[in-house]
Amino acid sequence: MTILRVDEDFNSIRKAGKVVRETLALVESKVKPGVTTAELDAAAEKAIRSLGGEPAFKGYKGYPATICASVNDVVVHGIPTRKRVLAEGDIVGVDVGARKEGFYADAARTFAVGKVSETAFRLMEVTRESLKKGILQAIEGNRLFDISSAIQTYVNRNGFKEVRAFVGHGIGRQLHEPPEVPNWGVKGRGPILKSGLVLAVEPMVNAGTRDVRVLEDGWTAVTADGELSAHFEETIIIARDEAEIIT
Ligand code: MF3
Ligand code: CO
Repeated sequence: MTILRVDEDFNSIRKAGKVVRETLALVESKVKPGVTTAELDAAAEKAIRSLGGEPAFKGYKGYPATICASVNDVVVHGIPTRKRVLAEGDIVGVDVGARKEGFYADAARTFAVGKVSETAFRLMEVTRESLKKGILQAIEGNRLFDISSAIQTYVNRNGFKEVRAFVGHGIGRQLHEPPEVPNWGVKGRGPILKSGLVLAVEPMVNAGTRDVRVLEDGWTAVTADGELSAHFEETIIIARDEAEIIT
C-alpha cells in the first residue's frame, strides 16, 4: 500500500501519470482501420521512453509487451500482435503502465475503431461513466467498497455485467499493491480510505455474461459467451474533497 505524504513523492507519481496519459493520447490518435495492435504497442513504448519513463508491464510476470490491446470480446490482457489488424466497428481497450522516479501509474481506455454498433458505443459509455461514479466515492473517510458499489450499481442499472475475475488495485511504489479494488460490493463496507492512498480503479464491463476465460497464452482474457467487453482505468490519489486523477 502506498500512502503519499511528502510533496516530492506526489510530484513524482504525477509525472508517471502524465507519461501514461500522454502515451494513451498518442495511441488513441493511431487507432484506425488497418493498424495492427503491434504497431500501437511499438508507438506506446517509444512514447513512454521519450517521455522519460519505463514500460511497467513489459517483463512483469513474463508479460511480453508494453501495452495490453484488448479487442472486442477480449476483456483485458490482450497481447499486441502483427496479426491483429483493427477493422471498422472494432472496439479496442488499451492499457498502459509506466514507471518514473520510482513510482507507477496505470490507466486504460477503450477506443472505437471508426463507426461502432449501438451496443458497443453504449457499453463504452457506461463503463467510462461507471469509473467516474466510482471515483466520486473515492474520498477520505469513505469506505473502499463505496467505490465498488457505485461502479456495480451504475453498470447493472444500465443492463450490463461487471467482471469479477479481475479487480483494481493499490499502486504506487509497485504496480500491484494491496488493497484489491473490486468492481462490485456493498456500500459502507471495507477499509476506510485515507488521504494520500493511491489506487488504480478499473471497471471491466461485459455486454453479456460476466464470465471470462483465459486463453492458452496464459494472458488473454475473453468473455465466455463471445460478447463485447470494455475497460477503463485511472490511477487516483485519495484526498479530502475529491480524488486527484493523475492519469
Ligand atoms: N492494468 C492492468 C492490471 O492492473 C494491466 C496489467 S498487465 C501486466 O492488471 F502485464 F502487467 F500484468
Ligand atoms: Co491496473
